[in-house]
Amino acid sequence: MNNRAEARVDEILPSGHILRYSFRERLMHWINAFAYLYLMLTGLGIWSPWLFWLLIAFGGPQISRMLHPWVGLVFAFSLTWMFLTWASQMHTTKEDKAWMKSMNHYVRNEDEEMPPAGRYNMGQKLLFWGFVFCGVLLFLSGLVLWLPEYIPWDARALRYAAVLIHPAAAMLTIGLFLIHIYMSVFAERGAFKSIIRGDVSQAFAKRHHRLWWERVVGSVSRR
Ligand code: HEM
Repeated sequence: MNNRAEARVDEILPSGHILRYSFRERLMHWINAFAYLYLMLTGLGIWSPWLFWLLIAFGGPQISRMLHPWVGLVFAFSLTWMFLTWASQMHTTKEDKAWMKSMNHYVRNEDEEMPPAGRYNMGQKLLFWGFVFCGVLLFLSGLVLWLPEYIPWDARALRYAAVLIHPAAAMLTIGLFLIHIYMSVFAERGAFKSIIRGDVSQAFAKRHHRLWWERVVGSVSRR
């Protein structure tokens, strides 16, 4: 057993907690989250005159408009990092299909009725793929909006498409984001602490990610 600074993901700490997120994963998540928050708030300010005050709050419209695409690059970078780190753990398993069928219990927070989930449940996996999909659309359409002079006039349909795709994909991510905040900060007690400090209690692991907990505990008892 190592202490938290030395421990690897899935290791049981001296406190009995399990390390769920390594320091690198937490750093990656928070770079991504802060970039996203800035993009969402300045994007809404650019999009709607009713929300123009958001641009003033972020230093004025010129600064917000100038920084928005650069922070977009930070978001694209951190999302790519997230993809490379987590995509291999986000494939659908047969347990996920059973979990999906019990979704009605999940939305009512009836955890005891849910089939056991692995490290991530199917809802978390869908959120991940939703962010990746929308992130690609936002990045490509954002490039067209940022540098329209490089789009030849004959391909101007791309510019029109970007004007529609960019806000539509942003709206989808706002929906995903609100669900993510509700589920991970308010519904699953202990999850927020895990993305800050890295560890979760065994009770949390057993309640929300039973298959993962069994794997972690099983691999310790086999040693
Ligand atoms: C202020 C903003 C955010 C907060 C407070 C937040 C909170 C959290 C928390 C508490 C977890 C751990 C959940 C668990 O292990 O059960 C988590 C994981 C995760 N976050 Fe965020 N997050 C934020 C922004 C984002 C954004 C913008 C993305 C999009 C790319 C994102 C993607 C993920 C993913 C893919 C995971 C792992 C799977 C999952 O738990 O859904 N997060 N986040």
